[in-house]
Amino acid sequence: MQRELAIEFVRVTEAAAIASARWMGRGDKESADQAAVDAMRGMFDTVDIDGEVVIGEGEIDEAPMLYIGEKIGTRKGEVPKVDIAVDPLEGTTIIAEGRPNALSVLAVANRGSLLHAPDMYMSKIAVGPKAKGAIDIDLSVEDNIKSVAKAMNKAVEDVTVVILDKPRHRVENGLIEQVRKCGAKIKLIKDGDVAGAIATCLPDTGVDILMGIGGAPEGVLAAAGLKCLGGDMQARLIPKAEEEITRAKKMGIEDVNASLRIDDLASGDEIIFCATGVTNGEMLEGVRFEDNKAITHSLVMRYKTGTMRFVEAIHKLDQKPLPFKQDF
Ligand code: FBP
Repeated sequence: MQRELAIEFVRVTEAAAIASARWMGRGDKESADQAAVDAMRGMFDTVDIDGEVVIGEGEIDEAPMLYIGEKIGTRKGEVPKVDIAVDPLEGTTIIAEGRPNALSVLAVANRGSLLHAPDMYMSKIAVGPKAKGAIDIDLSVEDNIKSVAKAMNKAVEDVTVVILDKPRHRVENGLIEQVRKCGAKIKLIKDGDVAGAIATCLPDTGVDILMGIGGAPEGVLAAAGLKCLGGDMQARLIPKAEEEITRAKKMGIEDVNASLRIDDLASGDEIIFCATGVTNGEMLEGVRFEDNKAITHSLVMRYKTGTMRFVEAIHKLDQKPLPFKQDF
């Protein structure tokens, strides 16, 4: 993959972020998501790749755009064949309620490098570079926290675990209680575990581990980002019904209960991860509209070189037709 493509992918998440940011706080997560999907899909048409969506908006019968298996990009001439994972709007409820940490996010890797994760739940544990190699999804919550504390040269009491604040973590599996029993600190987030996982790699966030169950597609996106940042992640799919097991097998996952290492989620030496802030967050500022301009903040990273690029862009909305129409 040519390195110039990185900036092309930034244009894709920027367009989706601008489109969905206009829906902030309007209480309409479907329209916000649709706006992001339309913008992202439109922008991909201009990128010189032969892309196949492996993580997208769902199966072909439930998503007309960015569905799993959809071929995107210009697909003409000598262009790279790549897998594409997208979440045009990561945090649909976040944007609908105008809360922090909504992102537009994508990951691109050589064909065959990203796990074709079905739309089901996934148990995840993610850490930053200092704790790389110190996690094991097959061990207990306590063992993992102790091991991460040791690797990070911290007391267990000084470790912060970020967890999605969902009933499953209070009642069903008691994760929150188990972490409290260990003595570690907790940061609860209502949504957005891609940002939560990435936060473990960013020193200013004060977050050391992400634990808990979230979406499997978001798990693959997080793994791609963590690889670029030198972090680590392990996971396990949590199929809830026979139908989900069948779907996983159809997508090429033989053992749905297998423990997945970061390389099972995102492999190869060519991975590009790109995110644009939709609402203000710890990693990125959200879209700001002023004076008929939209100002965006993005992060684009390349695994091969380890480069992290923060891109601030000013989009003159009267000069640049965006590849989507918006009706409010
Ligand atoms: P959406 O953008 O689809 O709303 O996902 C937000 C999110 O919080 C993800 O970050 C997370 O992986 C997933 O939802 C958790 O699912 P659920 O909301 O069902 O607990």
